Amino acid sequence: MKILHGSGIHSSVMHFHVRLLCFWMLFSLAFSANFTDLFQPFWAPDHIVNEDNLVKLTLDNTSGCGIRSRRNYLFGRASVQIKLIEGDSAGTVTAFYMSSDGPDHDELDFEFLGNVSGEPYLVQTNVYVNGTGNREQRHSLWFDPTADFHSYSFLWNRHCIIFLIDGIPIRVFTNKEEEIGVPYPKNQGMGIYGSVWNADDWATQGGSVKTDWSHAPFISAFRSFNIDACEYLAESDGTVGKCREGGLYWWDKPALNSLSLHQSRQLKWVRAKHLVYDYCKDTGRFNELPRECLS
Ligand SMILES: *[C@@H]1O[C@H](CO)[C@@H](O)[C@H](O)[C@H]1NC(C)=O
Ligand SMILES: *[C@@H]1O[C@H](CO)[C@@H](O)[C@H](O)[C@H]1NC(C)=O
Ligand SMILES: *[C@@H]1O[C@H](CO)[C@@H](O)[C@H](O)[C@H]1NC(C)=O
Ligand SMILES: *[C@@H]1O[C@H](CO)[C@@H](O)[C@H](O)[C@H]1NC(C)=O
Repeated sequence: MKILHGSGIHSSVMHFHVRLLCFWMLFSLAFSANFTDLFQPFWAPDHIVNEDNLVKLTLDNTSGCGIRSRRNYLFGRASVQIKLIEGDSAGTVTAFYMSSDGPDHDELDFEFLGNVSGEPYLVQTNVYVNGTGNREQRHSLWFDPTADFHSYSFLWNRHCIIFLIDGIPIRVFTNKEEEIGVPYPKNQGMGIYGSVWNADDWATQGGSVKTDWSHAPFISAFRSFNIDACEYLAESDGTVGKCREGGLYWWDKPALNSLSLHQSRQLKWVRAKHLVYDYCKDTGRFNELPRECLS
């Protein structure tokens, strides 16, 4: 099945695909890909356990660990379900992110900042373009992310990048390259990553709460890996050009150039109730707010 192996779908079967997407969101388990086909460890394989496509990433006092997709992708949708470290997770970060390689890399991040028992996680998102990030937002969640699995997704096309939690958009990064010259990730394929690591110098309550290693090992569980994106392999075999070309895939559909009315309402709700930090509002940090914040 094409969908399971990360290829996009030609627009001639788009209607079928849109119906399939709805079906798929309801029954994502049934459509989940085989982890081993799509991912491999990139850091500390001995801290990673794959139990029939339920993948446990462990952090202890010797190491964190990480997984990476075997391929890179340019545009499409990547999603995973995560159940975060339970109990005392202060100082830890669990991440689900996309990144290209090299110094001028592009990157899209979900970073889950742990907390002491009973205090809420925060999710930090960021967008790097051509090596430059500094676009953090932080949100609280409307559920306990340690009690059960929830889905986290990137939808990425030429017009926008949408960060979704359980299908609800929490952030949109819009392509304003032509309008105001802010660079937009559209030239480099990105790998898809999951990781856990110790970040107690900054993650929890500004770095004041350190990781309590007596509570190790810290385990985040990942499952239901879904990649429906354009595989970006090499210039030589034409896949790169195919990914860059517009109009071939379901994510090029005009309806996905921006949020639907329903999604805009959802985003508004999330921003009103759960946005706790936005770089676009941080006048103490920037002498001049970044250009994308002004329009
Ligand atoms: C996943 O794929 C690997 C290699 O392709 C295979 O060995 C394994 O049995 C598969 N696992 C499941 C659960 O389908
Ligand atoms: C790491 O944790 C193990 C098991 O809890 C413990 O035996 C060991 O002393 C710890 N090592 C360090 C360097 O703290
Ligand atoms: C990316 O940044 C490098 C400098 O790090 C610059 O030379 C290059 O022109 C930039 N590329 C784009 C597409 O902005
Ligand atoms: C941790 O809990 C404290 C106290 O409720 C809260 O101020 C903080 O935002 C929470 N999250 C992080 C990542 O520090």
